[in-house]
Amino acid sequence: MDMQKENDSPRLLIVDDDETIRMILCRVMEKQGFVCHQASNGLEALDVLNDHPVDIVLTDVDMPEMGGIELVRLIRAQYTADPIVMTGHIDEFNYEQMIQAGAEDFILKPMAPSEVVLRIRRVLRERLLARGLRETHQELKASYLDTINRLVTAAEYRDENTGSHITRMGTYSAFLAEKLNMDGAWVDRIRYGAAMHDIGKIGIPDNILMKPSRLSGNEFNVIQTHPAIGARILANAQSDVLRLGQQVAIAHHEKWDGTGYPQGLSGERIPLAGRIVCIADVFDALSTKRPYKDPYPPDVIYSLIEDQREKHFDPDLTDLVLGHFEDFLTIRKSSGTDSESGTGELVNWGEIFNWSERDVMSADVSTGRSV
Ligand SMILES: [Fe+2]
Ligand SMILES: [Fe+2]
Repeated sequence: MDMQKENDSPRLLIVDDDETIRMILCRVMEKQGFVCHQASNGLEALDVLNDHPVDIVLTDVDMPEMGGIELVRLIRAQYTADPIVMTGHIDEFNYEQMIQAGAEDFILKPMAPSEVVLRIRRVLRERLLARGLRETHQELKASYLDTINRLVTAAEYRDENTGSHITRMGTYSAFLAEKLNMDGAWVDRIRYGAAMHDIGKIGIPDNILMKPSRLSGNEFNVIQTHPAIGARILANAQSDVLRLGQQVAIAHHEKWDGTGYPQGLSGERIPLAGRIVCIADVFDALSTKRPYKDPYPPDVIYSLIEDQREKHFDPDLTDLVLGHFEDFLTIRKSSGTDSESGTGELVNWGEIFNWSERDVMSADVSTGRSV
């Protein structure tokens, strides 16, 4: 058999302590285009599985060393092959056991070769279908995440003109979610969902968002509509990522003490995703150069964040950020530029907070105006 054929052919492992049965089955299946391996018990089968990629395992039940049920259980736990069980006596108890172990199908002994071929082909067909579905799902997921990323970059472009802030937002947020022991799927969701926090800025007119001088009260009110606009853009989403993105969009300017916007929620009434993205966003603003300010030195950022524990920020999240401060600085340096510290001249917290939104421009920095 040449190499090419070997690579494309379905691979079968036949496990039986009766050598004659193995030989006959192998001959039948090789004629059908399968590559066949053999083993005389469960332990030997595991050796073969460790050395060769196998699509389907056809196993007897009663064998020395390790029987078929135990083998099926181990295959389900540690390998990707689909197991089929062949057995001479199938009663209710055995049947239950085989189902629970994860057998894909059964064949009763003695068996006609044509039936074996039929069963194995069916399991192989389902296996290929399932793989195709998985691949399609992965492709779809990748392409919709890519679409989201482009949309978010478009929203952010006027404000920051690199995508590095939103990339870092995903990394900080996923880091915090992991430290909170959230499950892997949730960590993944916030990694992408965090990027959407400011998507509502797409609805803020340029002359306000990009105004190079102090905003009027009315203009600031317009800026403050971006969480609601973002939530509307992401409303009624089917996907978990977009639903989390909506929570992030609506809640990332709420503050722990209830003085944030748009709803003035406080404490744990603010969705966790919003609290996480809030502290990540401010950390990133403090450590990033803006047209009107240099990044702060790390020790200044540290004390500014510490000071806002239970005011602006969730106390637990504040402790996590401060407890892993070096990690945060590393994430900051990992993408984008402009993280070199400047002099770090201090102004009041209201100004700093607003910088994270680019609401207040250079003219205001020295005035200490709090909006
Ligand atoms: Fe925002
Ligand atoms: Fe942001």
